[in-house]
Amino acid sequence: MLLSHVPVFALLFGLTFGSPKRPHRCVIPCSKDQTADDSQTVNRVFAQCAHDSVIIFEEGADYNIFKPISATNLSNVEIQVKGNLHLPQSIAQIQRIVNGTDRVPNTDGHTWFTFSGPQIDYVGSEDINSGWIYSYGQAWWDANPANGTGIASRPHLMSFQTTDGSMKYFKSRKPIAWNVKLKGDNIDISHAFIDAESDNESFPFNTDGFDVSATNVRVTDSVFYNGDDAIAVSDGSHNVVFKHNTIGFQSHGMSIGSLGSNPKSFNNVSDIHFEDVTVINAIYAARFKSWIGGQGLVKNVSWKNIRVYNVTFPIFVTQSYFNQGSTQTPRVNNASVVMENFTWEDFTGTLNTYHPGDGSCTSDPCWYDAGLPSLNHTESVIIQCNTASSCKDFKLKNIQVIPQSLAKPTAICVNATAELNPHLGVC
Ligand SMILES: *[C@@H]1O[C@H](CO)[C@@H](O)[C@H](O)[C@H]1NC(C)=O
Ligand SMILES: *[C@@H]1O[C@H](CO)[C@@H](O)[C@H](O)[C@H]1NC(C)=O
Ligand SMILES: *[C@@H]1O[C@H](CO)[C@@H](O)[C@H](O)[C@H]1NC(C)=O
Ligand SMILES: *[C@@H]1O[C@H](CO)[C@@H](O)[C@H](O)[C@H]1NC(C)=O
Ligand SMILES: *[C@@H]1O[C@H](CO)[C@@H](O)[C@H](O)[C@H]1NC(C)=O
Ligand SMILES: *[C@@H]1O[C@H](CO)[C@@H](O)[C@H](O)[C@H]1NC(C)=O
Ligand SMILES: *[C@@H]1O[C@H](CO)[C@@H](O)[C@H](O)[C@H]1NC(C)=O
Ligand SMILES: *[C@@H]1O[C@H](CO)[C@@H](O)[C@H](O)[C@H]1NC(C)=O
Ligand SMILES: *[C@@H]1O[C@H](CO)[C@@H](O)[C@H](O)[C@H]1NC(C)=O
Ligand SMILES: *[C@@H]1O[C@H](CO)[C@@H](O)[C@H](O)[C@H]1NC(C)=O
Ligand SMILES: *[C@@H]1O[C@H](CO)[C@@H](O)[C@H](O)[C@H]1NC(C)=O
Repeated sequence: MLLSHVPVFALLFGLTFGSPKRPHRCVIPCSKDQTADDSQTVNRVFAQCAHDSVIIFEEGADYNIFKPISATNLSNVEIQVKGNLHLPQSIAQIQRIVNGTDRVPNTDGHTWFTFSGPQIDYVGSEDINSGWIYSYGQAWWDANPANGTGIASRPHLMSFQTTDGSMKYFKSRKPIAWNVKLKGDNIDISHAFIDAESDNESFPFNTDGFDVSATNVRVTDSVFYNGDDAIAVSDGSHNVVFKHNTIGFQSHGMSIGSLGSNPKSFNNVSDIHFEDVTVINAIYAARFKSWIGGQGLVKNVSWKNIRVYNVTFPIFVTQSYFNQGSTQTPRVNNASVVMENFTWEDFTGTLNTYHPGDGSCTSDPCWYDAGLPSLNHTESVIIQCNTASSCKDFKLKNIQVIPQSLAKPTAICVNATAELNPHLGVC
């Protein structure tokens, strides 16, 4: 269908179905040629309908999104993803865009979908067969050489930046790597489904679910099967709730961090709550990670009612992270990202004693064992504070995580001093 038909469509439907809140209704035409690229059309409709509109990827249609979509001037827009969206299947084609050898106007090529502006609602489909973004990541995972940590020039799938917005039924199948970068304020995410499960031993590196640097965020009723953090909460995040979710495959869990990677900038995170989550076969369930020599303050964080099955490190804190493989000059241990008021409460389930770790291990020792004493994989709690005063008011309550070997659960606690942490419990 020709693009010139779009305004007619918009007008027709606008008259019939327009809502007072979003009077423009813009259906994105999909090329009948199944090999044609629809991205230019998609970008044009987003530009034409940037304000007070409902933009629709039609049910039953398959859109080829062979170039990045950039809609950075949206306001009060609902994006309905009723059809399926397909990225290119050729690795080289995407890499040329990421590398900048194949330039795409108005994008830096590093993010495939960029949506920003106030009041954006992304609405996928309730139908399990519709509303997916297919990224064909398996080929990228398979292309990763032995002991590699993911090949070069992988794009982020989406950047979603809004205030007073939402995302419902976001569905991502075989993402190449990172899924959604979330920024802004007052954002509701629900019923997301991220499926980064690999068909074989190839590991889906860096397939983070939501990378959050935002305030007043809720992520609920979602499923994450991936090979990195299901959610990673980073600098500038305040009041984030992650609730009623299931995470698994080779997930790296519910993370705060990493923080303090730039030793010159002060990181600030507060009021983060994770509750009612099932964690299956993951390396971590609840994790905090900050860099050695990082600066910052993280306050009021809790994980509550967490069910773990076959998890290697159910509760894990490190304030002394550094990149083992790095050739850079070693970092000076002159600061800590200070932690205050952390609670871990009502954890049940099993700890992975028999096959600890996962396919993300590419070195000896594995990155997740580096800096730790030789483990027995009975450790339900590992808390490593950088100094005797960098952790304060930690509480562990009702931690019932049993090693698969049925040995007695153990804990490793470093510098989690009793004076500052009178309610630490198991340590
Ligand atoms: C963004 O939209 C505003 C109107 O809300 C308009 O004035 C401005 O020119 C637009 N900017 C771009 C880059 O399209
Ligand atoms: C893109 O750049 C990366 C890293 O520089 C390189 O490995 C890759 O071959 C390049 N891809 C293409 C298609 O040019
Ligand atoms: C995964 O499967 C693909 C396609 O069958 C194959 O090319 C690749 O070598 C496999 N990788 C591993 C690590 O098994
Ligand atoms: C710690 O040392 C690094 C490197 O010298 C420096 O950049 C940073 O500002 C120092 N941090 C503090 C808190 O002094
Ligand atoms: C951290 O963020 C909170 C909430 O935005 C703010 O009140 C506080 O001043 C910030 N602290 C620092 C040291 O930046
Ligand atoms: C701690 O954070 C939670 C979750 O964001 C919030 O509901 C609660 O009010 C915060 N508690 C305090 C004392 O600020
Ligand atoms: C536990 O998880 C590991 C790592 O993902 C996996 O290799 C192993 O098969 C799982 N065991 C069970 C009993 O599910
Ligand atoms: C932090 O913990 C202390 C001791 O349990 C408590 O008195 C204080 O109210 C807590 N503060 C926040 C912000 O939760
Ligand atoms: C991968 O790393 C392991 C452990 O460090 C090593 O034994 C193996 O030789 C490496 N394989 C390749 C192909 O580099
Ligand atoms: C593992 O078990 C051995 C034998 O009981 C013990 O000596 C060692 O300290 C344990 N390792 C850790 C990290 O607790
Ligand atoms: C505990 O903290 C002190 C500084 O307060 C530091 O010197 C020491 O190395 C830390 N202990 C461990 C085992 O990391």
